[in-house]
Amino acid sequence: MLHEGNKTIDEARQGEAVMREAIRPNGKKLLLESYGCQMNFSDSEIVVSILSDVGFNTTREAEDADVVLMNTCAIRDNAEQRVRNRLNYFRSLKKKRPHLVVGILGCMAERLREQLLEEEKLVDLVVGPDAYRDLPNLIEQVHGGQKAVNVLLSREETYADIAPVRLDDNGVTAFISIMRGCDNMCSFCVVPFTRGRERSRDPESIVLEAQELFNQGYREVTLLGQNVDSYKWNMTSKGEIKDESRPTVNFAQLMEKVAAVSPELRVRFSTSHPKDMTDDVLHAMSRHENICKYIHLPIQSGNNEVLKNMNRGYTREWYLERIAAIRRIMPDCAISTDIIAGFCGETEAQHADTLSIMEEVQYDMAYMFKYSERPRTLAERKFEDDVPEEVKGRRLQEIIDLQMECSRRRTERMVGHDYRVLVEGTSKKSAEMLYGRNSQNVVVVFPKGNLKPGDYAVVHTSECTATTLIGTVVSQ
Ligand code: 5AD
Ligand code: SF4
Repeated sequence: MLHEGNKTIDEARQGEAVMREAIRPNGKKLLLESYGCQMNFSDSEIVVSILSDVGFNTTREAEDADVVLMNTCAIRDNAEQRVRNRLNYFRSLKKKRPHLVVGILGCMAERLREQLLEEEKLVDLVVGPDAYRDLPNLIEQVHGGQKAVNVLLSREETYADIAPVRLDDNGVTAFISIMRGCDNMCSFCVVPFTRGRERSRDPESIVLEAQELFNQGYREVTLLGQNVDSYKWNMTSKGEIKDESRPTVNFAQLMEKVAAVSPELRVRFSTSHPKDMTDDVLHAMSRHENICKYIHLPIQSGNNEVLKNMNRGYTREWYLERIAAIRRIMPDCAISTDIIAGFCGETEAQHADTLSIMEEVQYDMAYMFKYSERPRTLAERKFEDDVPEEVKGRRLQEIIDLQMECSRRRTERMVGHDYRVLVEGTSKKSAEMLYGRNSQNVVVVFPKGNLKPGDYAVVHTSECTATTLIGTVVSQ
């Protein structure tokens, strides 16, 4: 499961614009806003590719746009509320400019389907995550005066042949989507309903994409999937070979193939599932210097009964054994997690188990949430959302306080060491300073010298804030 952020896309990068010179502009401007997890940001790069192929140019200004699309998240109710507020704003723009097309993409589109169109009359266009190839037709349909919907989920679609238009313009780090959907059915989670069945993308197209990014100057790729450990090519979900004449590829093997593109290309991945994370993956990570020593391993709760109700497929003991395996195979590996406070029926003692596993693991970082009941999920059908809002809030605060303390101690422990850092850009606080990350994904800030984004430097750290290291370059 992947993580949230949100931003508006920028103009397509210069290089892409050159490659796409042959396409005749249709005179229409597209604003695409992305909400939610990294997968959504990656999907937005596919959407822009599809629409620039039929002549759309991108814009950052809603006031300037002919088509506004929002790529949305449905994971928690507050994510949906944010989107609704924005849709109301677009509706007010549409009153002044009736030809403006407003569309909703992604998980909220898939979840609510016609409802946003018919009952709430908020949008003209509703398109689910597996139907983006149909966008040019659907937009045409709206121009022809109709409303348009395509929320069909697919068992095959991976958009493997579509070259994403990179929207994060640092030119150093990029996402590569390696699989889509999720078969896990965690009881709290809406993703299996909005993104459909799990399917893996052809490994050759993944390696080619990594190679092309490297050739263009990128130095870090993040392999994305809801559950990357269950990546399987040419294998059924039970592990049987589909086509004897072709090779099979699992996640450990895929990662090694991508790492082999160049020792100067860093490889990251997200997200791992504790029940599926094998020692093979850990050994592959430890064999390659350029596979970053960072694992995001969501625990959700430290209590076995809650984990069972969440349908997570592992126990506290199993999880701790996986943590021990990481520490055994890669003592310098950073570990982060996801935690949900106040799941259905959670008692004070069960909440205390979550705090105690946090103490035990000492996570480097965590994403922490209050439980939010989602329609159609197993938890909604089976359990009562019975932890009062103020209790959820208090428990979440205890979790956050403990994690802040852990993260601060982690950063302090990293002071006084040398780290190889990939330079990503100029520090927000000073034009004379650059920032980058070490393998463990901690931000490191240091004086510019003659370095530029995409370079590597070894930085000796001498001070820190709660989350950032500060140092000087010792070698390049
Ligand atoms: N309520 C709260 N948090 C949730 N997550 C997923 N579904 C819910 C929900 N219904 C969290 C999980 C997941 C992360 C991306 O979002 O912790 O790992
Ligand atoms: Fe992640 Fe579980 Fe949701 Fe799948 S069902 S996306 S594994 S939280």
